[in-house]
Amino acid sequence: MKRYLVTEIGELVTCAGGKKRGKAMRDVGAIEDGAFFVADGVIERVGKAEELERTYRGEERISCGGKLVTPGFVDSHTHAVFGGNRADEFAMRLRGESYMTIMRSGGGIVSTVRATRSATEEQLIAAAEKHLARMLSYGVTTAEIKSGYGLDFKTERKQLRAVGKLGERQPVEIVATYMGAHAVPEGGEADRYIAECTENILPAIAAENLAEFADIFCEKGVFSLEQSERYLRRAKELGLKLKVHADEMAPLGGAGLAARLGAVSADHLLKIRKEDIGALADSETVATILPLTAFCLGEEYAPARELIDAGAAVAAASDFNPGSCSTYSIPLLIALCCIYMKLSVEETISALTINGAAACGRENRVGSIEAGKQADFVIFSCERKEFLPYMTGMNQVKTVFKKGERVYG
Ligand code: NIG
Ligand code: FE
Repeated sequence: MKRYLVTEIGELVTCAGGKKRGKAMRDVGAIEDGAFFVADGVIERVGKAEELERTYRGEERISCGGKLVTPGFVDSHTHAVFGGNRADEFAMRLRGESYMTIMRSGGGIVSTVRATRSATEEQLIAAAEKHLARMLSYGVTTAEIKSGYGLDFKTERKQLRAVGKLGERQPVEIVATYMGAHAVPEGGEADRYIAECTENILPAIAAENLAEFADIFCEKGVFSLEQSERYLRRAKELGLKLKVHADEMAPLGGAGLAARLGAVSADHLLKIRKEDIGALADSETVATILPLTAFCLGEEYAPARELIDAGAAVAAASDFNPGSCSTYSIPLLIALCCIYMKLSVEETISALTINGAAACGRENRVGSIEAGKQADFVIFSCERKEFLPYMTGMNQVKTVFKKGERVYG
């Protein structure tokens, strides 16, 4: 099948070496005058252009015209399948209402639940397809998508089926997460709903193989630490990998719980407790920061600098959803990581590639340009990685390849 040498690269950022924690996040494995060879959608060899040009003489070549090349980005946290929109709620927030006040007065997540329940699977797919096409244009080649706007088995299944079909219909690789415990259904009660999830919904999701991960909104006024533990333990028992929406609005200790239960990631972390920074650093759990949400809500950012300095593996994702974060702009995300969260360009790239892959349990297949990995990569219009935050908020993606195929640009 298809074989080619990717060469004439300005700067080749490989992100090689597996999940990166702490100081290692600064090492993005940049190769000067680098090149790599792709065969049948897989990277066969990475090295100096001079050597590879010799080894692969006569093979097809893709010239990058002296531009930057990175692994495809992994957006490891999104809620991209939903019905309706919440533009009016956004306007209310601009007038001073808080996210949690709107949620308590019957708006917020449950209003998207109403819209998602009344949408057909095809409508959900059509809306999400548009978003995924734009994500691809930002260089995203893998994205996680959560359910959680059904809050009943029928609708959660409809959402997850839509997620599954999206994975087959367009180039962005999709990771499916069941997040039935996203909110308490209208008229319901938290304890009873968690029991419904653990006794009936989670086993049915696992039996039908609808999701790879389970996630919960562990938050003051939503699901307590104890309820979260019950739900997550059951999910784990059923073979699902774990993610936790932790310490977003209040310091409840969700990050510590995630580390204790061996969750693959703990996400948000705006209000993470000091001791839980250490707990994450000492664990295999990826600390996922979602600065676009803090930006849209006007909240303080998560202590990403402290997390990295303590030795945690930090990933960065969009959290795209109709309520708290109505954007998935990777250029803006990069700007926020670098300007406000004080990450270096290298740390930001690690967070968006190999650590994002680790947050999806996919670090052995995607997230870096290394021999044996899937050929998911991006050619930019700039020469060096320093231009990514420098051209602030600007999309500099020129061409995107997924499994060795040109899928954008
Ligand atoms: O990650 N925090 C909970 N869930 C989403 C918000 C979802 C919504 O508002 O629709 C989040 O921010
Ligand atoms: Fe989220």
